[in-house]
Amino acid sequence: MRKLYIFDTTLRDGEQSLGITLNVKEKLVIGRQLVKLGVDIIEAGFPASSPGDFNSVKTIAKEIKGATICGLTRAVEKDIDTCAEALRDAEAPRIHTGIAVSPVHMAKKLKMSPSQVVEAAVAAVKRAKKYVSDVEFYAEDASRSERDFLVEIVSKVIAAGATVVNIPDTVGYSTPWQYEELISYLKNHVSNIDHAVISIHCHNDLGLATANSLAGIRAGASQVEGTINGIGERAGNTSLEEVIMAVYSQKNLYGVDVMINTREIAATSRLVSRITGVAVPSHKAIVGANAFMHASGIHQDGVLKERNTYEIIDPEVVGIPRSRIVLSARSGRHALKHRLEELGYTGVQENLDDIYAKFLELGDLKSEIFDDDLHALMGNATKEVNGISIKQLSVTSSGAAHAAATVTLEIDGQVSSDAACGAGPVDAVFKAVDRIVGKTVKLEDYSLKSVSRGSEAMGDATVKIRYKNSLVVGRGISTDIFEASALAYVNALAKAAHIE
Ligand code: KIV
Ligand code: ZN
Repeated sequence: MRKLYIFDTTLRDGEQSLGITLNVKEKLVIGRQLVKLGVDIIEAGFPASSPGDFNSVKTIAKEIKGATICGLTRAVEKDIDTCAEALRDAEAPRIHTGIAVSPVHMAKKLKMSPSQVVEAAVAAVKRAKKYVSDVEFYAEDASRSERDFLVEIVSKVIAAGATVVNIPDTVGYSTPWQYEELISYLKNHVSNIDHAVISIHCHNDLGLATANSLAGIRAGASQVEGTINGIGERAGNTSLEEVIMAVYSQKNLYGVDVMINTREIAATSRLVSRITGVAVPSHKAIVGANAFMHASGIHQDGVLKERNTYEIIDPEVVGIPRSRIVLSARSGRHALKHRLEELGYTGVQENLDDIYAKFLELGDLKSEIFDDDLHALMGNATKEVNGISIKQLSVTSSGAAHAAATVTLEIDGQVSSDAACGAGPVDAVFKAVDRIVGKTVKLEDYSLKSVSRGSEAMGDATVKIRYKNSLVVGRGISTDIFEASALAYVNALAKAAHIE
């Protein structure tokens, strides 16, 4: 069996296309978790696209070891030079350069003839090769290109030194049989194809990204590209966790082995959702909240008699513990530590006193503490975010049109209060915070959902604000939904404060 290389582009195709600006710290946290998951390649960004992206790629290249760090470029000299500079400290650097190859992209977007495109592609690979030995070439919109032209350009970039050739279904147009046939065609017609790894990169416009990726692997691709939770442009990219578990479940069907620490999948999915603010639908394969729930009586009866009657994957394999212990304020430190470790948290013992104190605070407010509450507690159930803490918050409301809020914040040790009226209590809270912080931002999105069950469940608020052209996400969790909203807003404002 050949090894299937896992290429994660959550930080590039995922982040960039959502229009969300993740800060370097957030990217590092995700990058470190991707290494724990065991991905082979992390595409950290597009360094020439902005100074912020350059800085992120540079920091990730320097700090993260244990995976190849890759940067994207166009087939443009300046992009390649900038990318090489950003990757300078990487343990294993890769430059991912390329150009569009479909008739519509070449004629209308690039305004270049096919021979000019080939020339630019070869020159780009040669330039990248001057800096690094590992060069991946992408043939953008390959699935809508002309076969002979694709064969020509792929052969020429391999001859120029490309070690990986990426054949994207950029607009999610293919069907699995077309994509399988396309990869087979290249295998049979590109004479030097054995000198490079074939990579597949699919988008989900028709809901076929996972199916197309699996078809590509069956046809001989040894690298699959995608994102965690399938986040990405339009309908998203291939969900890596889906491909990984499909291959894991039926290796013989694909002839590849996937060397991934599958037990980190659930934790990685939660982390990416928390940091990007993109919720995972409850019915999402592998990582959705209901993916391993059995509701109907017949199914429950079957699973109790024999798990695999209705369960094709053991949830523990993807990091979801089977036993559903419910803790309460009466639970001791040992039970809490045991459960947190079962949920995949490490280093609990060292911080147990702090965690237990927060747990008891929560236990005073909620009679039962579920796994989701524990994730929230370990994530950000704190009243302090990035140097700003909420000291006091009160809201009065008599109908949506008559709401008022008073907020007291401590910012870097200085306490300030203000009050505002608003079109509803959340609006009033945000306006009071605005008056204290004194920053002009545009609220793009606000959502609130409950963590776990019951009317005493914690509220999980997500806020997206636009500041100087960047979209910034903030998240807050509390048993008081107004406090959760204020925390999320303050969290986003604190992050925005670091944008130049
Ligand atoms: O979808 C695509 O074609 C891409 C390339 C830039 C690799 O993301
Ligand atoms: Zn893409």
